[in-house]
Amino acid sequence: MVRLKGSFSCVAVYGSLVIFTYLFVAKPSSRPPTDLLDDLEINCTNILQGLKNEKQLELINTKMIEDKLWNSTDRCHTVKSMFRFNEVPLSEEEARFPLSYGLLVYKELSQVLFMLSSIYQPQNEYCIAVGENSASTFLILLEELSDCFPNVHFMKRPPITWGSYEIINSVYDCLKFLSHLKSNWKYFQYLSGVDIPLKTNLEMVRILKSLNGTANVEIKVYENRRLLGQNETESPLPLFKSSLSSLIPRKAANYLASSSIPQQLLEFLRNTWVADEGFWGTLFGNKGLFDVPGSLNFEEWIYFKENARANLTKPTDGWFYYISRHQIWFESGCHNHMKDGSCVFGIGDVSNLLQAKALVAHKLYLTSEPEAYFCLLKEHRRRTLNPDSTFDASKYSELPQVEISQDRPVSELTHLNWIL
Ligand SMILES: *[C@@H]1O[C@H](CO)[C@@H](O)[C@H](O)[C@H]1NC(C)=O
Ligand SMILES: *[C@@H]1O[C@H](CO)[C@@H](O)[C@H](O)[C@H]1NC(C)=O
Ligand SMILES: *[C@@H]1O[C@H](CO)[C@@H](O)[C@H](O)[C@H]1NC(C)=O
Ligand SMILES: *[C@@H]1O[C@H](CO)[C@@H](O)[C@H](O)[C@H]1NC(C)=O
Ligand SMILES: *[C@@H]1O[C@H](CO)[C@@H](O)[C@H](O)[C@H]1NC(C)=O
Repeated sequence: MVRLKGSFSCVAVYGSLVIFTYLFVAKPSSRPPTDLLDDLEINCTNILQGLKNEKQLELINTKMIEDKLWNSTDRCHTVKSMFRFNEVPLSEEEARFPLSYGLLVYKELSQVLFMLSSIYQPQNEYCIAVGENSASTFLILLEELSDCFPNVHFMKRPPITWGSYEIINSVYDCLKFLSHLKSNWKYFQYLSGVDIPLKTNLEMVRILKSLNGTANVEIKVYENRRLLGQNETESPLPLFKSSLSSLIPRKAANYLASSSIPQQLLEFLRNTWVADEGFWGTLFGNKGLFDVPGSLNFEEWIYFKENARANLTKPTDGWFYYISRHQIWFESGCHNHMKDGSCVFGIGDVSNLLQAKALVAHKLYLTSEPEAYFCLLKEHRRRTLNPDSTFDASKYSELPQVEISQDRPVSELTHLNWIL
């Protein structure tokens, strides 16, 4: 079922070579040739302010992109010419703080490649999980893509459908796989195929550094109806609800990969409703019972939320300190349209997305106001090539941290109003 590349040590050797190359040989200088994103003619001045252009962008022909790749006799070369995959670390700071990603994707190869190429850095590690129920061309092309890059790893999984247990099972397997790599990656994050990065690699590195080893997981009360009649006392830990998107430090990944608790929790969640939403919160919210590095005591945060609700001074849903993923669940906050209960972001949402504190946004479609998607990607590329030297991640270190949260009373945390 699972196919992964053989030699792990090769990755470490490659990693050091890359750092060596960056430091001593080839500082990135000349601009690489243009790719599809560069060549896309679109004036983003208005779009980045949330205003539409007079002329709408035509939908891009994703079928043609996929055909071109499919028909190519050198697919690695073709994919690298259509999508820019950065070849050397862009700074020493980034080279020394590699990231890892787990991606669960199932369709729309072009969009997956736009996203993957935008987050791709040679020092990072990528695990791409695809259910075997995806189209065979999709599976074949992504599997071949993993042969073009030593740090992109492909996993073919059992069939995956919305809400199915296999979602979290696959993401956990990616995390376990990544934890065994020699690469010294520091934080893991999960992405779906319709996410978009809001921060550049360098910005993410700085933000993640300021989390100081703490996990960032959404915190919500677990609703009993999700149990589908099961008895919660049979779960290895008290349950919390969270999004699948989380920021997980390396130490925690290693710990979770070697503990039997995640497996027991998976078995319990197998017969619950949307199993993936019962996993990370439960593992990272029970510090007193299960001391994963970087975990917190979520009771404290739930109490804070309930307290805030009673006083009606603070937002009442979700975890205020959640920065893993930006998602809007209410029509009134959505400037395009809702799909499956959350916003498909469009042009009117772009300025909010540019100011969002989260690392990525969910979700954007190439078929719905694609100007939003492409201008955000162009802006991401602009900041990647011209890093904002004033980018300051220090406000993120005000997020709760493991070492602090144990004795600092909750009330002291209310000054964190930059994110409320
Ligand atoms: C882009 O649009 C802005 C605002 O409408 C305009 O001022 C600017 O000249 C345009 N840029 C180009 C290159 O067309
Ligand atoms: C790819 O090949 C198919 C036939 O296998 C052909 O119909 C199609 O036009 C080709 N597409 C491109 C972009 O070359
Ligand atoms: C960061 O973590 C280290 C140990 O992991 C701790 O000693 C230090 O106080 C933490 N810094 C902050 C700002 O919490
Ligand atoms: C769940 O199990 C516990 C311990 O076995 C039992 O005391 C409790 O009544 C059960 N709850 C339900 C709702 O069945
Ligand atoms: C409202 O907030 C105050 C502190 O600001 C707290 O003492 C009080 O218990 C809260 N009220 C409720 C109903 O939770």
